[in-house]
Amino acid sequence: MKEVAIIGIGMTDWGELWEKSLRDISVEAALKCLDDAGVSKVDAITIGCMSGGLFNAQEHLGSLVADYLGQRFVPATRVESACASGGLAVKTAYMEVASGLAEYALAIGVEKMTDVDGNEATYALATAADQDYEAFHGITFPGLYAMMAKAHMKKYGTTLEQLSQVTVKNHDNGSLNPHAQFPCKFTLEQVMNSTMVADPLRLLHCSPITDGGAAVLLAPVEIAKKLNKPYAVITGIGHATDTIALAQRKDILKLEVVEQAAQRALKMAGKTIKDVSFAEVHDCFTIAEIMVMEAIGLVEPGKAGPAVMDGLTALTGKFPINPSGGLKSKGHPVGATGVAQVVEAVAQLRGEAGKRQVKNARIAMTQNMGGSGGSSIIHILEARS
Ligand code: COA
Repeated sequence: MKEVAIIGIGMTDWGELWEKSLRDISVEAALKCLDDAGVSKVDAITIGCMSGGLFNAQEHLGSLVADYLGQRFVPATRVESACASGGLAVKTAYMEVASGLAEYALAIGVEKMTDVDGNEATYALATAADQDYEAFHGITFPGLYAMMAKAHMKKYGTTLEQLSQVTVKNHDNGSLNPHAQFPCKFTLEQVMNSTMVADPLRLLHCSPITDGGAAVLLAPVEIAKKLNKPYAVITGIGHATDTIALAQRKDILKLEVVEQAAQRALKMAGKTIKDVSFAEVHDCFTIAEIMVMEAIGLVEPGKAGPAVMDGLTALTGKFPINPSGGLKSKGHPVGATGVAQVVEAVAQLRGEAGKRQVKNARIAMTQNMGGSGGSSIIHILEARS
């Protein structure tokens, strides 16, 4: 297998992009990425999108985007793994380059969620839950994560304050990100007193409904070396699946899918979690960030809440998590999230993250999750120059 580098990154602003269509958003992110790399023609395109059909009545995205990007006849494929569709797009592009099938492989992540109203968006998202055992009974993602949060609080004594500190931290970081949907800061009190969504999760413990796109360009490392600028190399990939339904898991407090994906990615990279400088993780609800910290082996089960309060994962902490602002502040256009995590990781590794730059960022982990832990894709990236 060839060693694979990321030679270009790009993303749109995230938020309610009413004046832009799904194709506009995809093309804008891709063009920014190609401009960044100084490349005009690619050999393969992979698009991560959870549900162009339900959100925009538009399927067949591979051909649509290739055409509007000026890349007609290029092989283009849409991949789907719920909210982990973006991570899957990056993995697929990696396989194109590593196998030698493509020299320049573009991964785009996109979702335009605000073309439908809140109820329809909730319905579309819930199609990624188990229909027979979850969705048909009325439970949606805020409810599923609320059950995990309640159980975590009961077993480990995790507090509302700890869940809320994740929000405070991620909005502190997101306030430094010009692409973020909600680049505002919140106090603990504001988070803890925000509107109840699904007990114990309140509005400010939830990621929002977002439109946005992101793109990365992958190529063999020999090409990256000729660019005379810093770049990142993908040294580890871990991809795992688990039961979609929470009821079928032995322990709903253990995100085994993340544990497996992290172990595989770190093993492939020849690293341990202690070698990693920072991570972008899937904080679709703040309890998810807490459970992911435990699943990647950063802290013992039950210790993530106190660690967040102690500042371990703050921008200036020993292991910064979500310097971009995470899904909570930056937004969560579901199919785009996994690609945007890699965009942030590369910006950090290139030392180009501005005011939210992580000090001594050399090795990054990105953790993208489908549904309530039915799938997860983790990448390890390393800085090179
Ligand atoms: N964080 C911060 N502010 C938010 C927000 C969020 N997550 N969601 C909405 N807002 C703001 C809106 O901008 C709006 O502000 P305004 O009144 O000043 O304009 C206000 O809060 C109300 O927004 P609204 O869109 O009416 O909220 P809603 O009740 O329809 O939806 C949620 C709120 C949390 C239910 C919705 O964002 C949601 O379902 N999030 C989870 C998405 C999800 O499940 N993703 C997949 C994860 S696996």
